[in-house]
Amino acid sequence: MSRPGSIVTGAYPMTRPRRLRQAAWSRNLVAETHLTVHDLIWPLFVVEGRQQQQEISSLPGVYRWSLDLLVPQVAKAASLGIPMVAVFPVVDPSLKNPAGSEALNPDNLINRAIRAIRQTVPEIGIMGDVALDPYTSHGHDGLFDEPSGRVLNDATVKVLVEMALGLVKAGCTVLAPSDMMDGRIGAIRQRLEAEGLDQVLILSYAVKYASGFYGPFRTAIGSAGNLGKSGKQTYQMDPANSDEALREVALDLQEGADMVMVKPAMPYLDLVRRVKDQFAVPTLAYQVSGEYAMLKAAGQMGWLDYDRVMMESLLGCKRAGADAILTYAALEIAERLKGN
Ligand code: PBG
Repeated sequence: MSRPGSIVTGAYPMTRPRRLRQAAWSRNLVAETHLTVHDLIWPLFVVEGRQQQQEISSLPGVYRWSLDLLVPQVAKAASLGIPMVAVFPVVDPSLKNPAGSEALNPDNLINRAIRAIRQTVPEIGIMGDVALDPYTSHGHDGLFDEPSGRVLNDATVKVLVEMALGLVKAGCTVLAPSDMMDGRIGAIRQRLEAEGLDQVLILSYAVKYASGFYGPFRTAIGSAGNLGKSGKQTYQMDPANSDEALREVALDLQEGADMVMVKPAMPYLDLVRRVKDQFAVPTLAYQVSGEYAMLKAAGQMGWLDYDRVMMESLLGCKRAGADAILTYAALEIAERLKGN
């Protein structure tokens, strides 16, 4: 990392920074950061049914796909060189209950989706979200104790371990716990070791903030439940904090995570940089639904040049230190990069 004190610079007029900016060739020559297709992870939504491509009103250009249409989308992503997809299930409300028990059904929607992808597109990484929110009637990521109003930590971890195992059995290669319970990475890693599943990667959502930017995602999968005003603040991080993020990452690495994630991205790029500098481990950024929606909406209004600000935002993540980025724009960006 460069320290300001170590930078040697001359003085005007002998030094003119604009010299290097005057032509495309010289700008390209000295560009420090590059976005490639290998930096992109594509989140997709899967829904029951056949021939379904459902529009999500708060995420223009993002769809809920039925399985028969989802798999060709993933195949397209793989053919463009996108290394990994993240699939999120839209669970029928009739299958939701306070315990989120559908999460443990070996034939639930997500496990069927993972099996189908693994079979048809074996070369792509499949990231499976480990959290109960798609399955719980209250919308929390864990077991909710009504009388105390608390999300129970250790009891939830036990369920998450079983859920994670189900995802792996279906063919998931990267477990991504997004629930923010304490100790879940260690519990999942220990269980994987005990089962002889030592090749399964864990991407921890280690630095996940209690953010308003998840709104369109919750609409997309119908997980807003009855979260109420306080939402997920008792387990997701306080946007005011950053030292705490380093402790979260340290714990998750000790417990056996291979990669860590900062989420959302743009309001938290300082954390991407701090985590990368401090730990030097694969650090990912999640450009979440609200970030995508914001850029898209302003583009549709004619207020911003969407293509340009999307690329600029992704480059910002990379410049901050991200090794890869989850973005709903992954496919369009991959196509654009190929065209270049
Ligand atoms: C579930 C989960 C969430 C997202 C990814 N996994 C939502 C939440 O925590 O409420 C959000 C992704 C996005 O907004 O794009 N634990």
